[in-house]
Amino acid sequence: MKTRFWHGFADMHVVAEHEIVMVSGDGAILTDANGREYIDATAALWFCNVGYGRREIADAVAEQLATLNAYSSFGAYTTDASIKIADRLASLAPKALEDPVVFLGSGGSDAIDTAAKLARRYWDVMDRPEKRVIVSREHSYHGMHVMGTALVGIPAMKSGYGAPFVGDVAQVPAMDVEAVARLFEERGSEIAAFVGEPVIGAGGVIPPTDGYWPAISRLCREHDVLLVADEVITGFGRMGEMFGTTRFGIEPDMITFAKGVTSGYVPLGGVLVGKRVRTPFWDDPVPGAVFRHGYTYQGHSGAAAAAMANLDIIEREDLVGRVRRLEPILDASVRRLAAVPSVGEIRTIGLTAAVAIKPEVLAADPTTPDKVVAAALRHGVASRVLRGHAIHISPPFVITEAQIDAMVDGIGNAIEDVAGATVPA
Ligand SMILES: Cc1ncc(COP(=O)(O)O)c(C=O)c1O
Repeated sequence: MKTRFWHGFADMHVVAEHEIVMVSGDGAILTDANGREYIDATAALWFCNVGYGRREIADAVAEQLATLNAYSSFGAYTTDASIKIADRLASLAPKALEDPVVFLGSGGSDAIDTAAKLARRYWDVMDRPEKRVIVSREHSYHGMHVMGTALVGIPAMKSGYGAPFVGDVAQVPAMDVEAVARLFEERGSEIAAFVGEPVIGAGGVIPPTDGYWPAISRLCREHDVLLVADEVITGFGRMGEMFGTTRFGIEPDMITFAKGVTSGYVPLGGVLVGKRVRTPFWDDPVPGAVFRHGYTYQGHSGAAAAAMANLDIIEREDLVGRVRRLEPILDASVRRLAAVPSVGEIRTIGLTAAVAIKPEVLAADPTTPDKVVAAALRHGVASRVLRGHAIHISPPFVITEAQIDAMVDGIGNAIEDVAGATVPA
């Protein structure tokens, strides 16, 4: 019997009868419906940072749901759980945000919608309604709501829908400061915000070039453009700091987050809104300055409880420090694959990496990365393809050094199976 579950980003003609069904997890290990075990090379979709099987989070959520599952957060209503998680997130936020407030939702895509709408609304209440354009970068990924689809820098993800869903968007090359300077010179008076991931994630793990983010931060200030750091992947430790913003010298006005805030135990996302954007809505009495936006489940009590328990674990087990210690270990292990003939560029930063397949191998067979992922499963490693060219690595922070080597060996052996190369010891 074919599944009725429509998978994301999947050709259901193929997948409907070939689902890979996971049933349980423990640490960095997953077990499928046939009882086979895999090292989770990707922390699912970059989210399961504290690892699987954390009863402490499940218990915290159960207790909260039995007390008060959720309530409205429209108008003056809210819950104590929402207030507590907002305080905690604000206390962890980078100093650049200056005493931020938090607008919660249920994931990264709605966080991007919130940030984009808030940027436009901010300029509206500041009496500059002509500032409407949101700028994103090539190779970027900001989720798949309508705003994210308009901003995405991976062409395949926006083709097939006709004209852009949202007008007033612009795109620049990924690491080109000059291109941003030119765009701001020409159209700065129309630009509301620049949105960027500290490290491009789904587009292929592309770290920023030296000085890129300080230069972009300066340009945004000079041209009155709000800067939104999309930390949906990098937030809560994956870069060895609580936020990638501090590692790369970004001075954002807003930070979007999701994934690692709960390690995916319950969906949660949101926007940390810094002082500049907050001020006309909270502090200065600008007449009519209300942000008419909200979600039924913003600040959901169960999600807030999951985030609290998840952050407790990250702090108690110093998992951010663990990422710092594992970063060079992952880097050294993955770079062993450089000697494999069909492996092209290897990019690593924090506890994440991409192993690109050489362009000539891809030209001969564009399905090579998919075949590598299928072969990796046979070697006990669950991974996936990034932007059609690279194998994705971003394990849970609790992965052991031995598991890192086993994961890299599994991927290397999979490449050997598919592309006939030998993995060096
Ligand atoms: C940088 C970035 N922003 C936004 C999103 C969208 O998050 P979600 O899938 O939770 O809506 C993602 C998801 O991978 C992401 O990587």
